[in-house]
Amino acid sequence: MNVLIKNGTIVTAENEYKSDIFIEDEKIQMIASCINQSADLIIDAQNKYILPGGIDQHTHFDALCNSGCMNTSGYEATDSVLRGGTTTIIDYAPQDPGKGLIDSIEFRKSKRAEGVIAVDYSLHALVTDATSNILEEIPHLAENGVPTIKLFMAYKGSPLYVDDGVLFNVLSLSARHGITVFVHAENADIIDTLQKRYLAEGKYEPKYHAETRPPFVEAEAAERAITIAKAAGAPVHIVHVSCAEAAKAIQNARANNEPVFGECVTHHLVLTDVELSRPNFEGSKYVCSPPLRNEYHIDALWNAIKNNWIQTISSDHCGIDYAVMKHLGFDDFTQIPNGSPGAADRIHMIWTHGVETGRISKQRFVDVTSTYPAKVNGIFPQKGHIGIGSDADILIFDPNYRGIVNLKDNPNGVDFNVYEGLKQIGKVEKVLLRGMLVVNDGEFVGQMGQGRFIPGKTYGQCYQ
Ligand code: URP
Ligand code: ZN
Ligand code: ZN
Repeated sequence: MNVLIKNGTIVTAENEYKSDIFIEDEKIQMIASCINQSADLIIDAQNKYILPGGIDQHTHFDALCNSGCMNTSGYEATDSVLRGGTTTIIDYAPQDPGKGLIDSIEFRKSKRAEGVIAVDYSLHALVTDATSNILEEIPHLAENGVPTIKLFMAYKGSPLYVDDGVLFNVLSLSARHGITVFVHAENADIIDTLQKRYLAEGKYEPKYHAETRPPFVEAEAAERAITIAKAAGAPVHIVHVSCAEAAKAIQNARANNEPVFGECVTHHLVLTDVELSRPNFEGSKYVCSPPLRNEYHIDALWNAIKNNWIQTISSDHCGIDYAVMKHLGFDDFTQIPNGSPGAADRIHMIWTHGVETGRISKQRFVDVTSTYPAKVNGIFPQKGHIGIGSDADILIFDPNYRGIVNLKDNPNGVDFNVYEGLKQIGKVEKVLLRGMLVVNDGEFVGQMGQGRFIPGKTYGQCYQ
């Protein structure tokens, strides 16, 4: 199967130019003006942008949520992700009860993703039992294609929580083996204290989720993680940065040439904490951690992205439904499973709120939604790039589309979409995954199970 894309404008993390692309054997073989080669499929991309397929480095498709229950929607919903313009996800592989990190990774690959997943994927290790043999396993993560591991400073009392000693040990050891540590930075003790105080005062509704996780709680933990990483001589990636103060901590560390990286997620860039006060318990749909903030923080985050203080934008997709799972916390906001779906909407929401508003350039858009996440996770330049020899993961993107987000147009596997009813500018029209046409005119035309595991290379082999 070979494909010729004609007349489009290629946008990469560095530049933008009109060119044709010839694809064969899953790879980009030729980029030149006026390629006149016969092909099985010819795509006319006149007036369209040709973008590298999105890389979403933060999804929880097959995951335990913070309450210990299983997310309701898994890899069988990943056709919606492709329709939204993401061709590779890096999903979290939480340690299953009684199992090690590597067994849990293998389980995700062979028992969950294989034959089901529609997108290409890599995995992050995720510690849920710090008392198990994780320190013996870390040296072997990379040989299993997993160069990243996530630790939670938040969620005290849940299996996800780790203390500073574990954080220090994991950072120190990971640094020696080229593993990048991703950290969920929130001060668990202060959240616990505030939650108890609020419940004692009879405050049970979803809106109190945000009040009990104020910005200083996140900023303090981000600063602590950065300090501990420095002492351990380790790179650290602070995930889902939601407030100005945490972004500032990353900015300061980077100004000192420390290997500190930051991630934002779509909902913190688009939505505010006002959503948590929706009536009829609808505010629970917006319960995620760190919580939604206000316009001041949204502006600060976009500024941090523009200035490369933050390097990646992800979805933090959680397939937690409203009808059953969110209602676990109907009488008590602390019991609402954290997280919302979003992988299917990341590309157009970031285009709408970032590029169309002039907050970031098209190049920066490509960098934070595709190229840099590929680097961080050791899969660049196979993924995240339009260049000779890269996988032909390509979006044909119509920047002139104007519409409204509607769950019915692209069902995401759960019963709500936090972006429902919002303006959408730009739309993914076609998607190629390794040269296969898998989305045509916005519709999925691929095969479930076509997704492939992409092993990542270690830190130092892949980016600086
Ligand atoms: O609210 C969130 N983010 N839930 C998913 C788990 C996590 O903290 O990343
Ligand atoms: Zn997290
Ligand atoms: Zn997450």
